[in-house]
Formats: sequence, structure tokens, C-alpha cells
Amino acid sequence: MVIVLTKIYRVDPDNIDLSVIEEAATILRKGGLVVFPTETVYGLGALITNRPAIKRIFEVKGRPMDNPLIVHVSDKERFLELVRDPPPKILELIDRFWPGPLTIVWWKKPIVPDEVTAGLPKVAVRAPAHPVALKLIEVAGEAIAAPSANRSGKPSPTKPEHVIEDLYGLVDLIIDSGETLHGIESTIIDFTVKPPKLLRPGALPIEVVEEILGEKIIVTDTARGIVESEKPEAPGMKYRHYAPETELLVVETDDYIGKLNLLVEKIRSIVVERKSRGLKIAILCSSETCNKYRDLDVIVIELGSREKIYTVTRRLFETLRRLDHIGVDLAIAEGFEEKGLGLTIMNRLRKAASQKIIKV
Ligand code: TXA
Ligand code: MG
Repeated sequence: MVIVLTKIYRVDPDNIDLSVIEEAATILRKGGLVVFPTETVYGLGALITNRPAIKRIFEVKGRPMDNPLIVHVSDKERFLELVRDPPPKILELIDRFWPGPLTIVWWKKPIVPDEVTAGLPKVAVRAPAHPVALKLIEVAGEAIAAPSANRSGKPSPTKPEHVIEDLYGLVDLIIDSGETLHGIESTIIDFTVKPPKLLRPGALPIEVVEEILGEKIIVTDTARGIVESEKPEAPGMKYRHYAPETELLVVETDDYIGKLNLLVEKIRSIVVERKSRGLKIAILCSSETCNKYRDLDVIVIELGSREKIYTVTRRLFETLRRLDHIGVDLAIAEGFEEKGLGLTIMNRLRKAASQKIIKV
């Protein structure tokens, strides 16, 4: 892989320095790679029609070539240039949720190169709700293909330091606009099948999409992070994901009100057993339960509140990354109720734990 000089520019989203955006757009037009902030996570961008640049995205991420990229547009009009006759329901969703963390999968027009969709006849598109991302797309004058700006398999970057850790020397420019808002990726829904199917739960709870759609979205075990499918719907699903080097165990229940104490007790007993083998342990817990582990000689990491579940999504990836820096042998995470953003959290936790799941 070619090592390049990576520029890092700080851009204030409330007062965008246009000269930086113009330089970034120039880099993109010359086939370069630009990391930019979105409201979900940082994206690693290239212009969709620049085939060598698209190829380079796969190289620098270490991403398998059969895992397609999300295309980022500024608005509905640009979306319509890329896809074939979307139904009124999709347009309604766009009016309601764009710009925002909803990625729509629909039939592509030939203008979208096969390299971007990994040969699939469908393309995944979204408009990011971040002023810097929107300005960059606008000035570049073309849609931008962008996966999350991490090395393949690592948690997605929510801060510029995560991007630097993974991609410094591999990309031409990193635009640093601080920590991202949601800290978790967009929700991906495939509308080419009926009923529509959730490919990846994300920052937009599916319940609010269902309300507009007037129908239920199919949630498979794969979308719940439970089984790795043989022939993946979102090809990215089959690969090891979000995984820290540290061994991670998830303890879950089907009743987070009635059985929460049981769940805590289970984690405590695992800690006692593993500590007797000399392991150093971290516990990832909710604000509601963290104090129940403080008497154990472990590192207690508070993810956020079950009542304000977005606080958990926001901190999840950063915490998974941190695990590898704090020198523990095992991390044990509490599960969360699988509704709203809880579905998204469980998808990421189960994948990060490579199916090491204990039920109480
Ligand atoms: O929030 C996000 O979605 C971030 C920011 C940068 O926008 N992007 C992101 O991209 O998470 P990435 O590449 O890390 O994840 C995209 C997922 C992959 O699992 C991929 O398989 C799926 O979207 N995907 C992309 N195009 C697809 C398609 N045409 N059909 C089915 N799945 C697709
Ligand atoms: Mg990713």
C-alpha cells in the first residue's frame, strides 16, 4: 500500500472555512480520498465515478471487494439521478428523514458504477445531516461514496483520533469537526423487497420509519446481530465487525425490567469465576446498574442510561476501541432491550462479541 502525506484540517461546522472544502473537493476530483464528518460516524469518501479512487477505498480499509459502499447525496433531487423510479413511499420517507441517518436501498441506474455496489443491481443512498458533509458534496458536484472511516473490522470512528489511529498515512485529507452526534451508523433498509427489510439497525429507530410507512419492517436474526448469514443481505454482515482485540462477552435477558438483578448477579458470578483464574476484567454497564459492580476489583465503564438510550449508542464505539488500550483480558457487557436504539446496540454488541452471548 502506498503511504501518502495525510493533511488534517479542523473545520468548525458552525462556521465552515470554504477554502478547506474547496481543497477537499479538488482532492476528490483528482481521485483522492477525503475523510469527512457526518452526523453518524466519520466517512471515507471518494467520488462515485472515479473508479481508481473507489478501488483505493477498499484497499486502505482492507475491505473485501464484495462489500458495497453507501452513496452520499445532498438531497432528493440528487438521489433521483441515481435510482430507477422509486415509489411514493420512499419519497415520503426522504421528505421526512433526510438529511439524516436513513440509508435507502433501491434499484440503481447505470450511472452508479458496479465498483460502488460490488456488482449489485441495487444502491444504498443517504443524505448526511452534517453541514460539512453537505457542503463537501455540493462543492464536489457529485455524489460521494463513503464507508465508515475505520480499518475493516474495527469499530466505526466517532472522533478524529479514531480515524488517525486507523488511516493516517493512507488518506489524503482528514476533516476534523470533533465528535460525531449519534456515534453510530445509519439505519439501512432495503425497499426492493416487500415488506421492506432492515439490513442494519442504526441511528434512526425503525419504529419511526414504520409509522410513516404504515407497515412493519422485516427484522431478521442477522439484523439483530445473532447469526452470520451464509448469503448476506448487506454483504458487510458476514465479516467480523466492531470487534476489539479484547475478548468480549455479552450477558442478555428477554426481560430487562423483571430480570435486571438476575443479569447483574450473573455478571458478578462470571467475574468471580474468571478472576480466580487471574484475569483482569472490565464491565460495560448502564448508569442504572454500574454501582452494583463497584465492590468487585474490576474496571467499571458506564456506557450510558437505559432511560436515555442514545447516550449508550453515542459512547459504544469509543468504549469498544478503548478496551484495547486499558489492558484487560476480558470485557463483559450488559445487554439492552431490543427496541428503538436498543436493537442497534444489541446488533453491534453481539457482533463485537463474536456470538459470545450468555442468556439469563
Ligand atoms: O452512517 C453511515 O452509514 C456511515 C456514514 C459514513 O455515512 N457509513 C457506513 O458505511 O456505515 P459502511 O460501508 O461502513 O457500511 C455500509 C453497509 C455495509 O454493511 C454494506 O454491506 C451495506 O451498507 N451496503 C452498501 N450498499 C449496499 C447495497 N447496495 N445493498 C445492500 N447493502 C449495502
Ligand atoms: Mg463500516
